[in-house]
Amino acid sequence: MNDEVDGGWASSAQAWIVEQGEEGDYGRRAVLDAPMLARIEGRSFARALDVGCGEGRFCRIMQRLGIRTTGIDPTEALLARAKQLDPAGDYRPGRAEDITEEAQFDLVVSYLTLIDIPDIETAIVKMATALRPGGTLLIANLTSFNTANMPDGWRRDGDGVARFSIDHYMEERPIWIAWRGIRLQNWHRPLSTYMTLLLNQGLQLRLFTEPRPTAGDPAQIARHLRVPYFHIMEWQKPA
Ligand SMILES: C[S@@+](CC[C@H](N)C(=O)[O-])C[C@H]1O[C@@H](n2cnc3c(N)ncnc32)[C@H](O)[C@@H]1O
Repeated sequence: MNDEVDGGWASSAQAWIVEQGEEGDYGRRAVLDAPMLARIEGRSFARALDVGCGEGRFCRIMQRLGIRTTGIDPTEALLARAKQLDPAGDYRPGRAEDITEEAQFDLVVSYLTLIDIPDIETAIVKMATALRPGGTLLIANLTSFNTANMPDGWRRDGDGVARFSIDHYMEERPIWIAWRGIRLQNWHRPLSTYMTLLLNQGLQLRLFTEPRPTAGDPAQIARHLRVPYFHIMEWQKPA
């Protein structure tokens, strides 16, 4: 598969599987998992769709809460890994833009996938359509402040102090980023792009948080406190 076509996912899949392990990478393990789970636990979600499920880690977590999960992802090698770890699980090849289910799911999850999806307008329409009335769309995303820094990342200023610069914030664009054998295309979009598309679906915002790290070495924690990394949004489809 040509990297330009799939955003680098086929070429990066094996390194991605190593990076995530069973516990997830730092952002998932120490920042996002707990607040994401707090929005799911104890609620009566029977069926969930995990859009861009990758190697299925969050599907497996939701299943442990008694939720019937369907994971979709366009990257074959990641789906194969999901199937290997969870042979009875429901994992299907597919892109968010091509979801065909209508009003089927109590919960639709997008766990760090909005930045990977090229046609975000269609994808958000499809995610909202897949929800049954009253259902919940739970999103974890890289903040737009963060993606506006890509691909330069942190840089040292003249005094040797690490600085994080945001630029071209209003300009929607694909950006290639690379680390530890992974090379992927992410999309930077202003936050208003996502908010407007979600509001246009008639979804109602129930929660917006910017979670803080709960673990990690002091440098990792400091980085996440200095700069916005992630946000979590919970949207509800009116009943
Ligand atoms: C950053 S990973 C997140 C994977 C998983 N949700 C997690 O948190 O570990 C992004 C995932 O989105 C998938 N993806 C890429 N393009 C997509 C699209 N158009 N629709 C749905 N998923 C897509 C990739 O294959 C990859 O598994």
